[in-house]
Amino acid sequence: MITREIQLTAQVTGSPTIDHFTVATTEVDGEVLVRTDQIGLAATYLELMRADCAIPVPAWRPGQRVGVATIGTVVRSDSPDLEVGDLVQSMTGWSEYSAGPAGSYVKLDRTLFADPGYHLGQGPTAYHGMAEVAAVSAGDVVFVSGAAGGVGSLAGQIARCLGATRVIGSAGSPAKVDYLVNELGYDAAFDYHDGSTADRLRELAPEGISVFFDVVGGEQYQGALQAARPGARFALCGSLSTQLGGAAQRFPQPDRTAADARGVTLLPFSCHHTPDQITAWREHFRTWLGEGRFVYPQTVVEGGIEDVPRAFLSLLGGSYRGNVSVRMPTPVS
Ligand SMILES: NC(=O)c1ccc[n+]([C@@H]2O[C@H](COP(=O)([O-])OP(=O)(O)OC[C@H]3O[C@@H](n4cnc5c(N)ncnc54)[C@H](OP(=O)(O)O)[C@@H]3O)[C@@H](O)[C@H]2O)c1
Repeated sequence: MITREIQLTAQVTGSPTIDHFTVATTEVDGEVLVRTDQIGLAATYLELMRADCAIPVPAWRPGQRVGVATIGTVVRSDSPDLEVGDLVQSMTGWSEYSAGPAGSYVKLDRTLFADPGYHLGQGPTAYHGMAEVAAVSAGDVVFVSGAAGGVGSLAGQIARCLGATRVIGSAGSPAKVDYLVNELGYDAAFDYHDGSTADRLRELAPEGISVFFDVVGGEQYQGALQAARPGARFALCGSLSTQLGGAAQRFPQPDRTAADARGVTLLPFSCHHTPDQITAWREHFRTWLGEGRFVYPQTVVEGGIEDVPRAFLSLLGGSYRGNVSVRMPTPVS
């Protein structure tokens, strides 16, 4: 089967542009053939596009398809495990069709969520970080950086569902601050361009924070340290402030000495989306949705495969909120 996919023209140094991507025509073949319905996007993918990729997985090279999580529909199957019409999730990336062994696709229950796109969210990471790493419970005062992004928009809601007393978020614009408070149920939020994080937290959490869920690092990490109660737990998830700009040190070591002096426990973590982590997230997510305590924060961009790179650049630029995906046109039968 001939399909169209997105490849890199060159590995990225500094900030990516639309010229780093091209639409290529390739052939796919395998036990199962799947039409891609929706493609998940995440800021982390930028690292895999860099020539000096700093995370321990093989980086994408020019001539290779890019992208990770997708959901799609089986259109041909030579396997007893999957049937035509099944909804599946895979790591097959930015292409119109993919093919491979049945074992490389995970069958999804179409009826589990109101929208199949919910499967593409960053929930396992947000749930693992908030419930298992930070171990948030009743009485916690929680600060989430990058709170309107893919992970952060779920993390704050998870903290609230786990019983946190107060949840505070930061984001990059007044509209996003409004979104956090009025749509995602944050108790308070601030624009990180608007003064120092330490000052904003002193004002919004005068009693100090007991948990910090950090996806941004840098100034917001330093500010959170100054606002931390003794014994606070910092779940360190990401480093958007250095990661996206192509800084020399994209994943700088957190300031351990200052944390020790304040009695703060630093908890860097990596979520590997193990079956247990996915199941734990899905069960809680479904329960909380059913109880009306949770909304799924997402931006769905309608477009074809050629629109995916531009949507990815818009995500990096802060144009979207929540979990971002591109929904491909449904073929006319
Ligand atoms: N530890 C793990 O297992 C794990 C798993 C998944 C992801 N991660 C990491 O978690 C972090 C968040 O991932 P995500 O997918 O949720 O990303 P994301 O929030 O969707 O990333 C896009 C957002 O980044 C924000 N941003 C851009 N430049 C920024 C800057 N200089 N300072 C602060 N924010 C900036 C923008 O929001 P604003 O408009 O609000 O600035 C933009 O909307 C990433 O660092 C990622 O690598 C870690």
